[in-house]
Amino acid sequence: MRNREILIEVRNLKKYFKVGPKTYLKAVDDVNFEIYKGETLGLVGESGCGKTTCGRTIMGLYEATSGSVIYDATTDISKLRKDEKKKFARKAQIIFQDPYASLNPRMTVGDIIGEGIDIHNLYSGEERMNKIYEVIELVGLNKEHVSRFPHEFSGGQRQRIGIARALAVEPQFIVCDEPISALDVSIQAQIVNLLIKLQNELGLTYLFIAHDLSMVKHISDRVGVMYLGNMVELTDSKELYNNPLHPYTQALLSAIPIPDPKVAKEKERIHLEGEIPSPINPKPGCRFASRCQYSQERCKKEMPQLKEVKEGHFVACHLVKS
Ligand SMILES: Nc1ncnc2c1ncn2[C@@H]1O[C@H](COP(=O)(O)OP(=O)(O)O)[C@@H](O)[C@H]1O
Ligand code: SF4
Ligand SMILES: [Mg+2]
Repeated sequence: MRNREILIEVRNLKKYFKVGPKTYLKAVDDVNFEIYKGETLGLVGESGCGKTTCGRTIMGLYEATSGSVIYDATTDISKLRKDEKKKFARKAQIIFQDPYASLNPRMTVGDIIGEGIDIHNLYSGEERMNKIYEVIELVGLNKEHVSRFPHEFSGGQRQRIGIARALAVEPQFIVCDEPISALDVSIQAQIVNLLIKLQNELGLTYLFIAHDLSMVKHISDRVGVMYLGNMVELTDSKELYNNPLHPYTQALLSAIPIPDPKVAKEKERIHLEGEIPSPINPKPGCRFASRCQYSQERCKKEMPQLKEVKEGHFVACHLVKS
């Protein structure tokens, strides 16, 4: 049974970027959700819909425009002072899409992993080295690797180094920002399985970001679907795949290739027309209206709110009733 204790509560979170005089890019626009202790919450949506911004704002790396992010029922991350921010940074870590770009090429693997330990004054001397060895072995590499440089490793191994770096400061929560998107398909499952193993062993909580629903399926307990700065659907992973209710989720799911040609033939494919619109000064009403085959007059005027339409299943669409 999943532990239903809340680790992170996100309320009315907005992150706008000022991109010109009186012009705001609404990267995250009023999202509400929680992340339970020990779960993996998948976050999906097309490139540019605000996933990374959402993850970074939750971690306190971006200052929220408004709203709150309550951590462990006590800390409002959006209101931390500088010294408190540093302390909090240890609890929440991030793993990036491109491990190579995020690893300093002039540092040895040992120094890369040790950096966070030093910043937070966790261990020194032998204890520090033992911690580095411990995490490098946890991610499936070995002690000899600590004196080598990032370019000596394959893409999958580099992602393991990125994971080891995050683990070194003993976090509770990790934002995995498209950690498998840049990897070969054959390596993707290995990294996902490693993350699952680490979660079970260390009791970690993940926000797992991907642009493709098929990538989050295996790892997520629940999945949230974002569209242009909004959360449009959020529910248990199984429920989302078996019973998608938002027209955008339905379109995303119909785009996933089905291995069995007989099933694929019977499945109706919904094509998403056009590009995702601009998040700069977006039009009122439902953000998906310009691409939605069910769009009505009301949709263009009134923004649908995320509502619980059945237990644990949240949807933001005027047509979906509880
Ligand atoms: N620092 C920034 N300044 C201005 N705009 C940004 C910044 N970071 C992201 N954006 C914009 O915010 C929107 C959401 O970006 P992002 O969160 O990276 O989306 P995703 O991770 O889903 O691809 C995009 O339109 C992007 O161009
Ligand atoms: S609110 Fe209207 S435009 Fe938006 S997803 Fe629902 S039917 Fe489509
Ligand atoms: Mg991103």
